[in-house]
Amino acid sequence: MITITNVKKRYAGGRKGFWALDGVTLEIGDNEFVAITGKSGSGKSTLLNLIGTLDTVTSGNIVVDGKDISKFSGRKIAAYRNKTVGFVFQSFYLEPSYTVYDNVELPLVLAGYTGKKNRPRVEAALEAVGLGDRLKEKARNLSGGEQQRVAIARAIVNDPRYILADEPCGNLDSANSENIMRILANLHTGGKTVVMVTHDPEDAQKAERIVTMSDGKIVSDERRSKNP
Ligand SMILES: Nc1ncnc2c1ncn2[C@@H]1O[C@H](COP(=O)(O)OP(=O)(O)O)[C@@H](O)[C@H]1O
Ligand SMILES: [Mg+2]
Repeated sequence: MITITNVKKRYAGGRKGFWALDGVTLEIGDNEFVAITGKSGSGKSTLLNLIGTLDTVTSGNIVVDGKDISKFSGRKIAAYRNKTVGFVFQSFYLEPSYTVYDNVELPLVLAGYTGKKNRPRVEAALEAVGLGDRLKEKARNLSGGEQQRVAIARAIVNDPRYILADEPCGNLDSANSENIMRILANLHTGGKTVVMVTHDPEDAQKAERIVTMSDGKIVSDERRSKNP
């Protein structure tokens, strides 16, 4: 469970008196599929980055599975990013010269696991995104949609509880977007908590809950019926 309480964020060097987040309170339960939506600049990515410990709050706190993540040391932050959350970004961030296998294996290597025993986990993650047959391909040879699927495999290879996706379909055409949304919905059905930032209302409709932001605040929080 993620409990966000009165979180404010001001960027150093930002406009005077401007809050990227201006008192956000939000609870995300286990196995929810939440879309965070709103106009560009409303604070969506800032909020997701704070949940992912890619940035730190100015005030307020974020408690994940009973632990205040803003109090984490460097070592705990590294472990949290590696094992508790899996990040998916708009621009994939694969290592283009690495193979698909090596890209997906990277979080396992960073966690201290190396060698052949990683193979079943890497293969299972790639099979979950429909790329079990592309292990040896260089990442740069894949289409955008395929690269994003590899990025999702990399995000799930350590079996994190939380998938944090920031505009995962932002660089994709509609067919590929639909595919990525289906994969995220499947991960949710499989037990993951999925928090997805999107400015696309159609993608947001795929989630069970739509949180809308404006000017650094939550302006609506709508729970919908389960995915059909
Ligand atoms: N590193 C930064 N430094 C200064 N201002 C920032 C930084 N990151 C984001 N902002 C500002 O914070 C606001 C919210 O940004 P962001 O969370 O990226 O919005 P969204 O993801 O909803 O488009 C914007 O006005 C943006 O310009
Ligand atoms: Mg953003």
